[in-house]
Amino acid sequence: MQTKIEKINERSLRLAKELILSGELVAFPTETVYGLGANAFDESAVKKIFAAKGRPNDNPLIAHIARAETADEIARDISADARKIMRELMPGSITVVLYKKDVISDAVTAGLNTVAVRMPLSAEARAFISACGVPVAAPSANLSSRPSPTTYQAVYEDMNGRIPLILAGKKCAVGIESTVLDMTGEPVILRPGIVTSKLIESVLGKKVKILTDPKSKVNSPGVRYKHYAPSCPAVLNNNCDVEKISVFYDKLNSEGKNPVILCSDGFADAFYGKNVYRLGKTEKDAAANFFTALRDCEKKYGYIIEVFCPQTEEGQSLMNRMIKSVGENFI
Ligand code: TXA
Ligand code: MG
Repeated sequence: MQTKIEKINERSLRLAKELILSGELVAFPTETVYGLGANAFDESAVKKIFAAKGRPNDNPLIAHIARAETADEIARDISADARKIMRELMPGSITVVLYKKDVISDAVTAGLNTVAVRMPLSAEARAFISACGVPVAAPSANLSSRPSPTTYQAVYEDMNGRIPLILAGKKCAVGIESTVLDMTGEPVILRPGIVTSKLIESVLGKKVKILTDPKSKVNSPGVRYKHYAPSCPAVLNNNCDVEKISVFYDKLNSEGKNPVILCSDGFADAFYGKNVYRLGKTEKDAAANFFTALRDCEKKYGYIIEVFCPQTEEGQSLMNRMIKSVGENFI
């Protein structure tokens, strides 16, 4: 299959709509990461997503909507608290898990009785979803287990030949996936993101739980799988121990492994003379650049040493992705 890359305009949105309504897949930008979309009402289209990504089919997808009213077409028994979250934080980088209506097929929800609903902040994303006129089921547009794509070029790397169309929009401003918040009972954050527990608590006026043990019962199935792995080995140092990192780097270097240190700008000087990839000044910059950094580094270097010591909740959310990207290998 030939994969077209089209800038977002009236013509390409018309093409995207035709493809989605005829059961094909279209990749599209959001403010978090690029998504790989199918008509959420079309079971056989949704199945193509799992095939294109090599995604395990017990990992459910998010239904993307462009208007708040659409939530009531796909979800039922929406609690007052869930409504508050949707009113105050949508559109935004948050996904809310609700009880599903029958119109949403088991292929989208992996057989669960709940559906994850998200209205992206990105105007490009909403233009695409509106043009389709149906909710769009979409995971991130990477091959399963690879870093999420935050540019259309990264989507092309993974999806060339597998899908007919990539809508080429901006580089994703947030850079890590949405916060997933289960609102079917007491609020639980299943996946941390840039929409923090503090913000959610300020909207609800109560505490929210954060799922810490991925093997525990209330499960976001996605947290079980291998994630975000670059094609070369990678390790993480999360106490910013410059001495230890330097020794580790020098050893790899002497073995000809061509290492690189991935760190915030503030640390770059501490590794003067070594290969360093800067993630930016702030923790938000680091989140925005992280997945692109992994894809850049795997092409140029042979071993990635991630260095990060989060100071904020947004930083903690990035740390969650970093830990997965190294398969929990710390130094
Ligand atoms: O920012 C994002 O959320 C991006 C963009 C494209 O919107 N999408 C994304 O999709 O990250 P994906 O498939 O990579 O991650 C979806 C997460 C997975 O961890 C999945 O297990 C969880 O949401 N999820 C989906 N439906 C669920 C449900 N009914 N109950 C619990 N977790 C669910
Ligand atoms: Mg993903």
